[in-house]
Amino acid sequence: MSTGGDDQSGSDDVSTGGENPGGTGPGAGSGGGTATSTTATTVEDLRLEIPVERPRRAENFVALCFTVSVLATIGLAITYSLGGQPQAEGALLGLGLAGIGIGLAAWGKYLMPQGPFVEDRHELPTTEKDKQAFGAAFSRGQVAVERRGFLGKLLGAAIGVFSIVGIFPFIRSLYNPRPGNQLDYTQFRRGSRLVQINGRPVMADDVDVGGVLTVFPEGHEGDAVSQTLLIRASSVPITTLPGRETWSPHGYLAYSKLCTHAGCPVSLYQQQVQQLLCPCHQSVFTILNGARPIFGPAPRLIPQLPIMDNGDGFLRAQSDYQEPVGPGYWERNTSTTLNPPKKAAGQ
Ligand code: FES
Repeated sequence: MSTGGDDQSGSDDVSTGGENPGGTGPGAGSGGGTATSTTATTVEDLRLEIPVERPRRAENFVALCFTVSVLATIGLAITYSLGGQPQAEGALLGLGLAGIGIGLAAWGKYLMPQGPFVEDRHELPTTEKDKQAFGAAFSRGQVAVERRGFLGKLLGAAIGVFSIVGIFPFIRSLYNPRPGNQLDYTQFRRGSRLVQINGRPVMADDVDVGGVLTVFPEGHEGDAVSQTLLIRASSVPITTLPGRETWSPHGYLAYSKLCTHAGCPVSLYQQQVQQLLCPCHQSVFTILNGARPIFGPAPRLIPQLPIMDNGDGFLRAQSDYQEPVGPGYWERNTSTTLNPPKKAAGQ
């Protein structure tokens, strides 16, 4: 259907020229001869026609889009409340948003008058004839899209359901237990034997100089927060920082495996330069002076675990870490030495 942008034939064009105080006719304005002709819209104005011949089909398409959005968002709510599945949640979220977006775009493209509407400069007062023409055009628009109210309600439902589901994470967060101080400590206690992931205890002569092992406190193999990188950096004890003279028997250094930037596992040991590299964002730490970051975004030294060999050949922890491991978090208090009540190792 033509938009009939230039076709004014047969329409009741209303020109205010006749009412121009200057009496100079159309094209002459009241403000010192400025052109002020007004092209009013009329009920027959083809520009007000919607651009599809079968608006019902367009309405159905828009309704389908909004309905799909509502169903997808309800599906998202159900998936989320059942425990969540990231891929499914992403797909349903995308479908919900796409339904609203495509529906609105189709509504504007196929069910709204397309114009073009170009209004000449006109006198400020609206003539009675203009008002009548506007009223007629408005009524015509209501008739052209028969189910405008229905589509509007569907749109409201789509946005409303989406908004409700959007606050689900907030509601769920109100019922989840707070983490407390569990981020402040690992499972290492005084006397904990260092063991590998299979539970095998690490003996003082198990690792050659230049070798590394991932170790855990005995009884907590695989514990993500406690994972520690044990490095045999030398054959003799190393003092990484003042106060740590006894922390590295036989040249063993034990550092948390969690990067202080974002928590990636720091496990790339470069023996020749005695550095650790985090593969996520390339932070580099020098292990001989307390794993101080010398490159990359990591903001703090990697916490060092004090270890000992009390004569039976097993490597053990002297205590837990002296500060929280991993990246920063809100309640982290770096000025406090965090030592839980000492517990004897389970052996
Ligand atoms: S997580 Fe290690 S540098 Fe970003």
